[in-house]
Amino acid sequence: MTLVSKLPETGSSIFSVMSNLAREHKAINLAQGFPNFETDKKLFDLVSHYMHLGYNQYAPMPGIPVLREAISNKIKSLYGTDVPSDNITITAGATQAIFTSIQALVHPGDEVIVIEPAYDSYVPSIKLAGGVPVFYQMNEDYTIDWDKLQTLINDKTKLLIINNPHNPSGSVFTKSDVAQLERIIKDSDLYILSDEVYEHMVFDESQHQSILKSDILRQRSLVCFSFGKLFHNTGWKMGYVVAPEKLTAEFRKVHQYEVFSVNTPLQFAFADYLNDENNYSGLSAFFQAKRDLVISELKGSSFKLKPSHGTYFQILDYSAISTEDELPFVSKVTKENGVALIPCSAFYHNHLQRQHARLCFAKTDEMLFEACQILKRL
Ligand SMILES: Cc1ncc(COP(=O)(O)O)c(C=O)c1O
Repeated sequence: MTLVSKLPETGSSIFSVMSNLAREHKAINLAQGFPNFETDKKLFDLVSHYMHLGYNQYAPMPGIPVLREAISNKIKSLYGTDVPSDNITITAGATQAIFTSIQALVHPGDEVIVIEPAYDSYVPSIKLAGGVPVFYQMNEDYTIDWDKLQTLINDKTKLLIINNPHNPSGSVFTKSDVAQLERIIKDSDLYILSDEVYEHMVFDESQHQSILKSDILRQRSLVCFSFGKLFHNTGWKMGYVVAPEKLTAEFRKVHQYEVFSVNTPLQFAFADYLNDENNYSGLSAFFQAKRDLVISELKGSSFKLKPSHGTYFQILDYSAISTEDELPFVSKVTKENGVALIPCSAFYHNHLQRQHARLCFAKTDEMLFEACQILKRL
């Protein structure tokens, strides 16, 4: 029997590769995007409370009403937008929200515009739906030339995927980006998948420009969020998607056969926890302090730091240290110096080499300090 792979080009993800290498060489792991500090103990207590109360069977397919209501209130208070709780579906992390959105919308032969560097789940999800990824490469400074991007749109284009704040670059949309996107969308039949998992990590007094703020864009968009990123518990794999009625209906047709529903006691715990804004309103300041620690500790080093305006990532340009390609360079630094980073080439279909490595600063100050002392010596 011949087994024909549906994803023949897919191997181990770069995040597993670098994390394994870090483990093997006892290196400080600033590669994979997860915090090394604990989620709030109050959340543990809430989860345990609801488990003991007996909330352990299947939740309703779209998610429990109180959680969807709490999310709707949060959107109203953050973005001033009224989103009915019926337009919100609770998912197993943003990864499932992204995958399900793509399966629901993309038919074989449909084109999907992917802005690179891009998070690694987008392209396989498109391919599994039979879609064709069409790549747009960001400018050198990780901004988007919307006129150039518009030239990729044709009759076959079904979907545009955007990610704001952006992994791995840390760039964020300005109001002008949103205005330009509105202009493009008005003249097309395009849908948008907006990955906003880092919505609460925006620095230097900037505001997160959510698609949910725009009446024009919201009508065409599925917007994905992650509780794992919000509450430092990426291993709980919980998130949600916000979309207008028609898109939500299509999303749920896939969702109900993919997972049907997601973790019940966690949903009840999040519903309670979300009702206190203090549980998330300080996140930008918290991560900005970590970004600033990295900037100040790497001052005078041979790395050039690209501006990070959001997320918990910082791009390091190592062109003054080595001309090596990114994967060999970061592998060597992991093995010989003891700090693991991610090569940005992993975020491009053609493995574009810019001598850029991504550092994750969602780590304790002690760990960041120690890693920076090592990096400074390179
Ligand atoms: C841009 C982006 N989207 C989605 C995800 C996945 O989120 P989740 O862990 O909730 O599935 C990540 C995780 O790193 C990410 O960086």
